[in-house]
Amino acid sequence: MSSWKSSDNYLITKVVSFLVLFSLFATPVFAELKVVGSGSETRFDPAEIPVNMRQSYQVLISRCASCHSVERLVDAVRNGIAPITGQPFDAESAGVLVRKVAGKPDSNINEVEVKEILGVLNFLFTKQAAK
Ligand code: HEC
Repeated sequence: MSSWKSSDNYLITKVVSFLVLFSLFATPVFAELKVVGSGSETRFDPAEIPVNMRQSYQVLISRCASCHSVERLVDAVRNGIAPITGQPFDAESAGVLVRKVAGKPDSNINEVEVKEILGVLNFLFTKQAAK
């Protein structure tokens, strides 16, 4: 009888371990990049941006908020879908979009800033994918 009990315990331990491990690895999949503010003031949480990228992040905020709210970009990164056209929004299409915007005469974004903005976006995409 006692051997039956110990195998029973063994099974319970296995099941519990599985559930604990499953919840540890499964939960972050449903998490999203942290944001601050709401509505048109929604921003990526600056605390999630590494210190050496904060300057570039400020460039992104100032340049990408001059025609519309940054909320549009936050939604695009978090959902992986560009909110207006409904096209997939990933590192590649973001690169195309940022270069297209920079090409507009009234955007005031130079080549150095394009690289800075894309550096931050690539970081955010990687972070989002790891969640
Ligand atoms: C010169 C004005 C201007 C600037 C600066 C600007 N945008 Fe936009 N953006 C627009 C307009 C206008 C649209 C609406 C779609 C269109 O007309 O192409 C748009 C749409 C978008 C969309 C939605 C695209 C879609 O396919 O649904 C995203 C995402 C976006 N912008 C991100 C950015 C980012 C990132 C920056 C900074 C690099 C930026 N925007 C800077 C004018 C601007």
